[in-house]
Amino acid sequence: MEGNDKLFTVLDEGRALNRNDLIYLLSLEDEEQVEELRKKAYAVKTQYVGRKVFFRGLIEFSNICRKNCYYCGIRRDNANVGRYTLSFDEIVESARWAHENRYGSVVLQSGERDDQTFVDFIEKAIKGIKAVSSDRLGITLSVGEQAEETYRRWFDAGAHRYLLRIETSSESLYGKLHPSDHNYKKRLACLEMLNRVGYQVGTGVMIGLPGQAIEDLADDILFFQKMDVAMIGMGPYLPHRDTPLYEEGVAAAGEREDLLTLALKMISTTRLFLKDVNIASTTALQAITPTGREMGLMAGANIIMPNITDVRYRSSYQLYDDKPCINESSDVCTGCLSSRITSIGETIGYDEWGDSPHAVRKIFQH
Ligand code: 5AD
Ligand code: SF4
Ligand code: FES
Repeated sequence: MEGNDKLFTVLDEGRALNRNDLIYLLSLEDEEQVEELRKKAYAVKTQYVGRKVFFRGLIEFSNICRKNCYYCGIRRDNANVGRYTLSFDEIVESARWAHENRYGSVVLQSGERDDQTFVDFIEKAIKGIKAVSSDRLGITLSVGEQAEETYRRWFDAGAHRYLLRIETSSESLYGKLHPSDHNYKKRLACLEMLNRVGYQVGTGVMIGLPGQAIEDLADDILFFQKMDVAMIGMGPYLPHRDTPLYEEGVAAAGEREDLLTLALKMISTTRLFLKDVNIASTTALQAITPTGREMGLMAGANIIMPNITDVRYRSSYQLYDDKPCINESSDVCTGCLSSRITSIGETIGYDEWGDSPHAVRKIFQH
């Protein structure tokens, strides 16, 4: 079949993919062809990063945010959310739990703030996490746009990875998803600062945004390459009822299936193209279907971020509707995810940082 000939040429070993190839792969619709893409991405994952999944314990320590992104459930203007911030002791307690349960690293995530109290608090939390784990736990931050000196302070305190999604690499689409005082160029500048300071930098996008074309997704993958990032975190865009973007994004049941397929194709195509980076299988995949995160791993992802936030706070940290595991404790989610991972024949990298080969290579080049 002619279609398959083309697919096998594009997937051919050793062939460098160009923008048209990326668009072609992301546009595949035939189930068997999508399965060929997935298999190929899985083979590339096996070869470059192995079949070991690394856990990052996610601590959603505050939902207070100064920003107002049109798609996000904890945006500043959403008055229906009870705002919270964990205490220093609660954060350290979660980190102790992660360490005792053989997690190699934790992620501190929150809404965005840049006041001095916040900057100091994070620095203290980083030091507290290091102390409670005898310096063992790796720390990833995901707390938005900050000044370079802030990024440096936190790096010096012991954080070594930073996640900052570009959300979409299209500047015009970015403009439509954010109020006018949210700036694409500023976000780009932050990614450059993070690289300069020495973090392993992660970025990513939302998939299936209103107004987003397949070409934009192909450009997102090219953007990841251009920024030379070590980690990718991306997932489907899911509407939240208290946001301005809600009406535009509500999909019929069948469309949610298509969205899942598109998100998985995006993971596979990114794996094929970038090869040796860490790619997260995100919770948003599991919001579409219970086995979404396993599907992400089978499509080429190798990182899972189990939520280890105290259940008391989980319902107040909903960026999108129908977030899974709102009532499940850290023990339950970790046990659940462990069996899901072993059920697909992969192993878990306990007590390891699990840096991507890409990040390790970069360190040696410097
Ligand atoms: N659907 C999916 N992902 C979302 N995020 C925020 N709101 C949504 C939504 N409605 C993602 C953004 C952000 C990350 C923390 O969560 O990409 O960077
Ligand atoms: Fe705040 Fe992040 Fe949500 Fe934007 S996406 S409103 S910065 S928490
Ligand atoms: Fe949370 Fe299964 S992943 S309960």
